[in-house]
Amino acid sequence: MKKIEVKASSKNYPVYLGSGIFKSLPKLMKSHTQIKNLFIVVDSNVNSLHREKIEKLLASGYKKIKLLEFTSNEKNKSISTVQNLYSKLINNKFGRDTIVIAIGGGITGDIVGFVASTFSRGVKFIQVPTTLLAAVDSSIGGKTGINFGNTKNLIGSFYQPDFVLIDTDFLNTLPEAEVVCGLGEILKYAYLGGEQFHSTVVNNLSNLIRLQPLQTFRIIESCIRFKAGTVEADEKESGLRKILNLGHTFAHALEVEQNHSIKHGQAVIVGIVCSLFLSNEMGLIAETYLDKYLELPLALREKIRIDKCNVVEIYKIMLRDKKGRGGKIKFVLLTQPGKILIDVEADEEKVIRAIENGVSLFV
Ligand code: GLY
Repeated sequence: MKKIEVKASSKNYPVYLGSGIFKSLPKLMKSHTQIKNLFIVVDSNVNSLHREKIEKLLASGYKKIKLLEFTSNEKNKSISTVQNLYSKLINNKFGRDTIVIAIGGGITGDIVGFVASTFSRGVKFIQVPTTLLAAVDSSIGGKTGINFGNTKNLIGSFYQPDFVLIDTDFLNTLPEAEVVCGLGEILKYAYLGGEQFHSTVVNNLSNLIRLQPLQTFRIIESCIRFKAGTVEADEKESGLRKILNLGHTFAHALEVEQNHSIKHGQAVIVGIVCSLFLSNEMGLIAETYLDKYLELPLALREKIRIDKCNVVEIYKIMLRDKKGRGGKIKFVLLTQPGKILIDVEADEEKVIRAIENGVSLFV
């Protein structure tokens, strides 16, 4: 089992990464806290696929255990689900001495983390990511949140978990669409991490799609180390951490425009393509390099289909979201892998052209 430390300003905590390590959860919890009241929220698909493993955990001598199933989708990442979880905590007499555990993908981790950060002004919180996307990205770094009024992640908090446990065995039951979603965030790290890591991901794309254990494990570890370093430098996203939003401004608007029929990680791949086109529009990437950098996301093209979409509407959603948050649209762009620019403003026509060029490759 690997142990990767995240040293955020508000808290230091470990990420445990290994195959078959879920069974170590009770022991790890005991080494972190004496608290014996567990409030577990588990993705309903994960619970039906791994019920036995999870029930074993429940048999390990806790004072009070409540397990709830959550149907994870963007519509349920809502204030009414949060209210429901608060009611369950209160009705079952959970107090400040509670450990909240999220077992599932990014949506589950985000909403359960938000509940953990606000219930009784914050209780112990453990992330057990079961998807590739959550393992490489969303479970680390303390972003929690919910959607509100058709804007993604509008309400939320920075709340670091007490630890993250990634058992790569959970990945073996992922449907291919979920693997592709995880690849969306891995592609992001391929551009952020520099030429060498970009080449590693290019050369291992088919190993990743097949979840070939050794290569997948190494790449997950590299993404976590990169993210940990970024969060250590800028926990609250006042500067450097913004690089982790590469492709996400486009992706979030596309998800809303598509009424969430496209999954987040898939939208991130399309968003990265739009960011590459915009980087080219802005004179940051020359045509020859654009083609080279597009190879990676376009290798996944057949695995992402958008029926039809309204490019201007996507732009309007981006504008509305940023105005709603009191700001202007600012982009994360790149000149080459590892050379990233943040807070770039761009003319409307260039942005619309970048969306058009990007999205049309997937329609
Ligand atoms: N997923 C981007 C971040 O954690 O900052």
